Amino acid sequence: MLKERINFFAESYAAHKKAFLFVAIGSLVGAALGLLSPMLIRHVMDELLPHGISSEMILTAGALLAIYAASYFLNYKIEVVGRGMGAKIEFKMREKLFRHLLRMGYSFYDNAQSGQLLSRLVNDISEVGNLMFAIPHLFITCSITLLGSAALLFYLNWQLATVVTALLIFKTFTTIKLNGEMKKMFMQARQNTGDLSGQIAESLQGIRLVKIFSCEEKELDKMLRAGENLLSVQKNSFQTVGKLHGGVDFFSNIVNLTIIILGGALISLGAMTISDLVAFLLYMMLCMRPVFQLMMLTEVYQRGMAGVERYRELMNLPESNELSAERVAKLDSASAIEFSHVSFGYENNPPLFNDFNLSIAAGEHVGIVGMTGGGKTTLCELLLGMYDLDGGKISIDGRDIKTVKTDSLRREVGMIQQDTFLFSASVRDNIAYGREDATDEEIFEAAKLAEAHEFISGLPNGYETFVGERGVKLSGGQKQRIAIARMFLRNPKILILDEATSALDNETERQIQRAMQKLSENRTTITVAHRLATVRNSNRILVLEHGNITEEGTHENLMERRGVYYNLSTNAAA
Ligand SMILES: Nc1ncnc2c1ncn2[C@@H]1O[C@H](COP(=O)(O)OP(=O)(O)OP(=O)(O)O)[C@@H](O)[C@H]1O
Ligand SMILES: [Mg+2]
Repeated sequence: MLKERINFFAESYAAHKKAFLFVAIGSLVGAALGLLSPMLIRHVMDELLPHGISSEMILTAGALLAIYAASYFLNYKIEVVGRGMGAKIEFKMREKLFRHLLRMGYSFYDNAQSGQLLSRLVNDISEVGNLMFAIPHLFITCSITLLGSAALLFYLNWQLATVVTALLIFKTFTTIKLNGEMKKMFMQARQNTGDLSGQIAESLQGIRLVKIFSCEEKELDKMLRAGENLLSVQKNSFQTVGKLHGGVDFFSNIVNLTIIILGGALISLGAMTISDLVAFLLYMMLCMRPVFQLMMLTEVYQRGMAGVERYRELMNLPESNELSAERVAKLDSASAIEFSHVSFGYENNPPLFNDFNLSIAAGEHVGIVGMTGGGKTTLCELLLGMYDLDGGKISIDGRDIKTVKTDSLRREVGMIQQDTFLFSASVRDNIAYGREDATDEEIFEAAKLAEAHEFISGLPNGYETFVGERGVKLSGGQKQRIAIARMFLRNPKILILDEATSALDNETERQIQRAMQKLSENRTTITVAHRLATVRNSNRILVLEHGNITEEGTHENLMERRGVYYNLSTNAAA
C-alpha cells in the first residue's frame, strides 16, 4: 500500500524532474533566507542601535531589504513553476483515467454512474494537483524553517528553548491524532460529492421526463438529500479543521506568553539580554509559521490522498479485454457469421442464451423478430464483441471474434442502435462521426442515400445546424436517418440494424425502409424488426424468444405455419 503510493508519487515527479528540483531547491534557499533576517535584526539591536545611525546600519538595512526582495522573487517563481507542475500532473492523470474509462467495456458501464465518474475525473484529480505542489514546497520549507529556527532558539537560550520544544512536541502529537480523523472525513466527503454530481447529472439528463411528469420537486428533493449528506460530512470535517486551525493561534499565544514570562525572569536574573529575547520571539514566530503550514499540508495531503485513492480504485479495475494480446487478427473480409454453442447471461442474471446456434451465410439478409426482452439487441451486441461469452464462440468467416482486434471487428461490423445517439455538434459532424476524413461530397452522398439530404438542407444552417444535446432539436425520424447516413459513410461489410421502437408516420417510415434497403445491398445484414414489414423481404426470418430461435423461415413459410410469427403479423394488422 505504502509502496504503491510512493511509486505513484515517484512516477509523477519523474516526469517533471526539472520543475520538481526547482521547487525543492528554491524552497530550501527561501527557507534559509527566512532564517537569516532575525539574526541580522538582533545584530542591529545589539551592536548598532546603541551607537546611533551609522553607515554599517544602513548597509545592514540594505541587506535586509535585499533578502526580502529575493524571497519575494523566489516565492513568486516557486508558485508559478510549482503550481504549473501540479496542473500538468493533474492533466496527465485525467488523460490516463479517461483513456482507462474509454477502454472499459459495456459491462462496466451497465453498473457505473456517469456523474460519479465525472466527479472523480474533474474534482478529485484537481485536489491531487494541489498536493503535488504542496509536497516539495511546504514540506521542505517547513522542515528547514522548523529545524533551523529550533537550532537557533537553542543557540539563543537553551533553557527557554527546551520548554518551548516540549510544548511543540505535545502539539505535534495532538495534530497527528486529528489527522487520522480528517482522512476518513475527506474520503467520505469525496464519495458524497460524487453521489451529488451523479444525482444532478441524472436529473438534468432526464429533464424532459421530469418536466412531463412535473417532478421538479422530487428531483430537487433527491438533490437536496445528496446535498445534505455532503453537508453533514462537511460539518464534521470543519470541526476538525477548526480545531486544527484555531488550535494554532491558541497554541502560539500560549508559547509567546511562556516566552515573555520565562524570558522576563531570565533577564531579571541577568541570564538573557533584551535583544536575545526579541530575536527569540522572532524565531519563535518563524517557527510557528511552518507548524501552521504543516497543518495546512496535512489537510491538502488528506484531500489529495483521498483523490489519489479514488483515482487508483478506478485505475485498478481491469479493462475490458478489448486490447487483449489474443486479439491479433484483422478482418480483411467479413461476410459469413456463425454462433456456435453460445452461452451468455448478464452479470448476476440467469443465462439468456444457452447453447445457442445460428449460421448466417455471406450476403444473407436475416430478419429477427420476437417479443420484447427476447434477447435481440443482446445478440447483436455479442456479435460486436461487447460482452464476453460464458461459453461457445462467435466467428466471422471462420475466425473467432475473440481473436480479432476490436477496431477491425467494429470497422467491419456496423450497428445502428435501437435508440440513436447524437452528439451536441453539427449535423455534418454527427454524420461524419468515426470518419473524420470524409469530404463534404461523401457526406452529402451518404445523406442522400439515407434520404436525409432534403430535410437537412431545410434546417436553419443546413449541415452546420447544431442538433442540441443528444440531438434534441431533431425529430425521431430525422435522428434515425442521420444514423443511417452515418452508417453509409462508415460502409461496414456486415450490417446490423436494430430498428427503433418508436413509431413513425407512413411517409417517414417508407423513407427509412428504402434507405435501410439500399444500405443492406451487397452486405450480410441482420435486421431486428419491431414492424414486420421491415423484414418481410428478408431471405430468412427468425423468431427469437427467451434466447431461443423458435421459428425460422421466409415470410411465406412462417405465415403458413400459423405460429408466433403469424400471430404477431395478424396482431399488427388488427
Ligand atoms: N445491460 C444489461 N444488464 C442486465 N440485463 C440486461 C441488460 N440489457 C438487457 N438485459 C436483459 O436481457 C434481456 C434481453 O434484452 P434485449 O435488450 O436483448 O431484448 P430485446 O429482444 O432487444 O428487446 P426489445 O425488443 O425490447 O428491444 C432482457 O430481459 C433485459 O432485461
Ligand atoms: Mg432491443
